[in-house]
Amino acid sequence: FSIYQTMTNPDPNRLPVVYEEWEKKAREVLDDGPFYYVAGGAGGEHTMKANLQAFQSRKIVPRMLTNVGERDLTIELFGETYSFPVLHAPIGVQSIIHPDGELASAKACAELEVPYIASSASTAPMEEIAKAMGDDAPKWFQLYWSKDSDVTASFLKRAETAGYSSIVVTLDTSMMAWREYDLKNVYLPFLMGEGVGNYFTDPAFRSKLQKTPEEDPVSATMYWAKVFGNPTLTWNDLAFLREHTRLPILLKGILHPDDAKQALESGVDGLIVSNHGGRQVDGAIGALDALPLICDVVQERIPVLFDSGIRRGSDVLKAVALGAKAVLVGRPCMYGLAVAGQQGVKSVLKNIIADMDITLALSGEKAIRNVNKSLLMEA
Ligand code: FNR
Repeated sequence: FSIYQTMTNPDPNRLPVVYEEWEKKAREVLDDGPFYYVAGGAGGEHTMKANLQAFQSRKIVPRMLTNVGERDLTIELFGETYSFPVLHAPIGVQSIIHPDGELASAKACAELEVPYIASSASTAPMEEIAKAMGDDAPKWFQLYWSKDSDVTASFLKRAETAGYSSIVVTLDTSMMAWREYDLKNVYLPFLMGEGVGNYFTDPAFRSKLQKTPEEDPVSATMYWAKVFGNPTLTWNDLAFLREHTRLPILLKGILHPDDAKQALESGVDGLIVSNHGGRQVDGAIGALDALPLICDVVQERIPVLFDSGIRRGSDVLKAVALGAKAVLVGRPCMYGLAVAGQQGVKSVLKNIIADMDITLALSGEKAIRNVNKSLLMEA
């Protein structure tokens, strides 16, 4: 109701409500390079479109007369209670979108009690992000598993020391994908020194360089490019991560049921079904289509989270109905950041949560954690 009340205020500078308007306004304020870096996908963007299509092909069938006066949006994950089933997806190089970059996004999340997942490729080092959020704010760290295992071990240690409570290991980006807009625009932010903050400040990374990144940023960036990803990794290597952190480990980028089986055998703590927002394998399955297949294998033994295509409250509900414990929001937050910095990210997330709450109630459910596939019909 308070959201509707603020709507009656005829402020011409009011932030957008409609998702498509956030994107349109972001297009107005960003140059081609950064805008398409965010908005674009891999190849012909078929998977990016499939992500949205997968939501359209599932419909909610609302129930009536179920007393939804009081709702409960909380969820439990790894022994913690979280206020909502919504997290901020890990997104690197946010300085290309807004000068306040990750610090603005992280502070918006702290205000809302939404967990912020700090990317390995953040512009700001993970310690600064953690400090901006405050000790009590929920924060997770996303690992790009470096070819240099000293850097990987160091990132894990730093994340734990800085107060991050879970590690998200992104498996789908062992190398940069074929992204046609970035190639057309000749735009790779890392080559301009963006998104390397965690690396350039890392003692293990620095120890491998002849000159410091401050003295010779070009050589430091070349070393970053050499060790950023590691396409030679196999399931056997997961033991290395377990040895180097006591935090819960979630694997991000799982789409195949057999990989879910492998993940269970390897003893990880959670999975994130994701195709990186259609930014890695063009032609890959829509992430929401993969979700029930993965949940069938997992059978609730470990939590399954989801991202790729969450735009509105009903999307959250559909993903939860198909077995996701919580969802990550990616591009919408970045459009909020582009348009209005910290307030923009806060507004985008708040609206998704409010929309989810209303849609939950109108669908006849009071607790998000009880939503299951009986709420949905395929159409
Ligand atoms: C990403 N994503 C991402 N993922 C990750 O694990 N580490 C990262 O550094 C990044 N960086 C990144 C930058 C940008 C500009 C985008 C749009 C995405 C992927 C992200 O975490 C998430 O999987 C997708 O954004 C989800 O899809 P939607 O919600 O954007 O459709």
